[in-house]
Amino acid sequence: MTPQRMGAAPGEALVIVGTQWGDEGKGKATDLLADDVDYVVRYQGGNNAGHTIVVGNTVLKLHLVPSGVMYPRVTPVIGDGVVVDPGVLLDELDELLAQGLDVSQLKISGNAHLIMPYHRELDAVTERHLGRQKLGTTKRGIGPCYADKAARVGLRVQDLYDMKIFRQKLDVVLKEKNALLSRVYNRMPMKAADIETEYTVYAERLRPYIADTMALLHDALEAGETVLLEGAQGTLLDLDHGTYPFVTSSNPVAGGALTGSGLGPKHVGRVIGITKAYVTRVGTGPFPTELPVEGALGCLAKGGPEEADIGRRMADVGKELGTTTGRRRRVGWFDAVLARYAARVNGLTEHFLTKLDVLSEFDELKVCRAYRYQGEEYEHFPPHQSIFHHAEPVYETLPGWRTDITAVTHYHDLPKEAQAYVDRLEQLAGVPIRWVSVGPARTQTLERG
Ligand code: GDP
Ligand code: IMO
Ligand code: MG
Repeated sequence: MTPQRMGAAPGEALVIVGTQWGDEGKGKATDLLADDVDYVVRYQGGNNAGHTIVVGNTVLKLHLVPSGVMYPRVTPVIGDGVVVDPGVLLDELDELLAQGLDVSQLKISGNAHLIMPYHRELDAVTERHLGRQKLGTTKRGIGPCYADKAARVGLRVQDLYDMKIFRQKLDVVLKEKNALLSRVYNRMPMKAADIETEYTVYAERLRPYIADTMALLHDALEAGETVLLEGAQGTLLDLDHGTYPFVTSSNPVAGGALTGSGLGPKHVGRVIGITKAYVTRVGTGPFPTELPVEGALGCLAKGGPEEADIGRRMADVGKELGTTTGRRRRVGWFDAVLARYAARVNGLTEHFLTKLDVLSEFDELKVCRAYRYQGEEYEHFPPHQSIFHHAEPVYETLPGWRTDITAVTHYHDLPKEAQAYVDRLEQLAGVPIRWVSVGPARTQTLERG
């Protein structure tokens, strides 16, 4: 069917946020919904994100560039809350250019922090140091970069345009980083002059894109234009509201969309949660509804051959391989406790449900409606991590439909079991499901009446 319209009101900003542990299909949803907005803004995270867009035969895998880049009328913006690895960004822009896309409209905030070579190195060595306790980060330097931002020793994009200040800040911070790298982690120290030379080249190439993005967005909204704020990662990976410490170092939740773009609460009209019809996770940490998947890092699921078979089929049919790391993702049944939590913490107004087609594979579908711990039932996300770590899912079972639904073009043509599954998810999550995605392409999206 033709791409859905957002129906964004003039002067309105909308937020798109992942409701699980990332990879919910935010890239697809953002690309689709960006069709009638004027700006698409990334507000947090960095190139730890991997957002896939499929249009006809073209497959785009975006890491830093906002997912609205396919539309010539959309201005893509990298906001203040993002961390930018300039070399990676330039490579991504080159790739997009090679695919025939016009990226000249991209705007990058001068307040965004720069990922430096020592951030990448420290991300890798600290993970190694943690051994069995490791987080399974993407090793892109995200955590160390945000840590420096909070410690007020970070370098920002705007520092690239005053190399004297850049070098002064670099000299101060590198002294400490080199001591850490060489004395604690037994690595080679880095040279400030080498980094300065490398980043001077990036500065020149990025110059045309630098803008006062906060002012730009306010001017746009005042002129009646529309803004889509695109979250990376997901609610359960949020630094404050996720499954700490198994999280990323930024705020993907809707609140982060404001600090990460410089807009205020009054600008946001709607918050759209992107929700997979089952759940996946890359990296370590608790995952109550997890099914066993061989080779998935951090898999904690127990279960017999039957569960292992379901887990393997869910991961295979869903092609659950990390977009950024290529790692096999962990998979599990839909978890309504998480969905309710995401609805609250983000103030969701609607859901965009993805990957329903993957569940056509199964005779029966389980949905977790609550957790059980020490004889007590929890409908809401438990207040202590130990309860979550040991939570036993309380499942209800729904019939499957066992028919290919990828070519369905109207919601009411879905098998009645598939509609009943969506109805039940909506009831349990407590927020309307407005779109249902049945394949990776733009056209494989059903608007639910
Ligand atoms: P993101 O990080 O949230 O943007 O998600 P990813 O791009 O990392 O992973 C989602 C994957 O699922 C991508 O390969 C998408 O092309 C694919 N995808 C998105 N929606 C659907 C869907 O409805 N059905 C199927 N089968 N694949 C989908
Ligand atoms: P998108 O935007 C899924 C996970 C990592 C690790 C943890 C911390 O594609 O949904 P980090 O490198 O951020 O310090 O790693 O967060 N992670 C993601 N998982 N999708 C992502 O992004 C992720 N970005 C980070 O696997 O567990
Ligand atoms: Mg992804």
